Amino acid sequence: MARRYIRLVTDVPGPRSRAALFRKERYVAGPLSPLAPFCAARAEGVVVEDLDGNRFLDFSGGWGVMNVGHNHPRVVAAVRDQAELCLHTDFTAVPYEPYVALAERLAGLAPGPAPKKCAFFNSGAEAVENAVKIARVATGRKAVLVFDNAFHGRTLLTMTMTHKAIPYKAGFGPYASDVYRLPYPYPYRYPVPLAAIERRMLSLVDPREAACLVVEPVIGEGGFIVPPPEFLPFLRELADRHGFLLVADEVQCGVGRTGRFFACEHYDVEPDLICVAKSIAGGLPLSAVIGKATVMDAPLPGSIGSTYGGNPVACAAALAVLDVIEEEGLLERARRIGEVLLRELRALERTYPVIGDVRGLGAMVGMELVCDRRSREPDPDTTRRVQVEALKRGVILPTAGIYGNVVRFLVPLTIPEDALLEGLSVLGEAFAQAAKSGG
Ligand SMILES: Cc1ncc(COP(=O)(O)O)c(C=O)c1O
Repeated sequence: MARRYIRLVTDVPGPRSRAALFRKERYVAGPLSPLAPFCAARAEGVVVEDLDGNRFLDFSGGWGVMNVGHNHPRVVAAVRDQAELCLHTDFTAVPYEPYVALAERLAGLAPGPAPKKCAFFNSGAEAVENAVKIARVATGRKAVLVFDNAFHGRTLLTMTMTHKAIPYKAGFGPYASDVYRLPYPYPYRYPVPLAAIERRMLSLVDPREAACLVVEPVIGEGGFIVPPPEFLPFLRELADRHGFLLVADEVQCGVGRTGRFFACEHYDVEPDLICVAKSIAGGLPLSAVIGKATVMDAPLPGSIGSTYGGNPVACAAALAVLDVIEEEGLLERARRIGEVLLRELRALERTYPVIGDVRGLGAMVGMELVCDRRSREPDPDTTRRVQVEALKRGVILPTAGIYGNVVRFLVPLTIPEDALLEGLSVLGEAFAQAAKSGG
């Protein structure tokens, strides 16, 4: 009999999860509103087990953090070994070797001929914020160019750079200054001619004042949007022509998700700076800015850093992640997962008219739900119903998009094919149920 990964032994949430979540309501701040109505007790590979022993397929990968899967034994061993040696010194107090080794590995992986250097931080937002700081010093300019549908984080600057207002900006103004938004080509909704991007830029800001243009090579939180192949090369040329830096925010699309280590490699583009986070350390907080050495060296000594940034345990975990990606052929796996996802989701698309678009690059695959295919009006209600029905049946399914009408897949690249197919068959059931219960 085929192996089943999902195992539901109680109602969801079960009694233990319910008790923990009851305390959460009392003590955890309201804005922290999880997707899953249960508490994780343990996790392995693509499976998360809750406090009551129910097992779920986690297609969210902790929001894109689990490219090597939950608790990969190599990562756990590296963490354990490093924890026994040294938990923390702060690299700017007493440097340590795993930081340097990781910088060397990432600098070697970054595309393009220019020599690269790295700096490490804790979160994606911190990496993006520091990339902007570095770009400002390196160019002596202030303005920051960003895109529609972008998500760059939740600090004051990165929240300003983020597009989706609700919930990410709601009530949090005033925002940072000197951030200008350009149209991002969205093939399903509004294909943007490249000339229109430059025209918008010229209408917003003197490009001689622009320090950098920050772009997600594939949009994540904003809806899993894959731009046309000429987009990134055009931005490289635009940046060179106007003398500002090109910053690739690969926090979600990097670290193998799209079938290349960096998504920008698909487009043969060498950014000046690349930000990675999420999957880089297999579940530990770590982010990096990887960039041309001349740019990375521009700020004054001591001006860049963070107490925990590049913590030794997180660096050791990241080195293990890089080994796993190489040794287990995860870039190739990402491409294969992408093929299976596209094939199966396109089969669903033929049955359910609510699916307006299925798209992706490698294993970064999403599908967009619409009220009808002609108007393409976003359908967040059905998207939510599908998500809830999938959860009831044991699949944790994340969504995305300005309207919350995109189902996105962030499955571990280590996922066995039978687990992927099991999850997709649950998704089919969720669609059938959502279609029945729809208004
Ligand atoms: C593209 C991108 N940039 C930056 C961030 C912010 O990362 P963090 O939540 O680690 O600050 C995210 C998080 O989802 C992201 O997807």
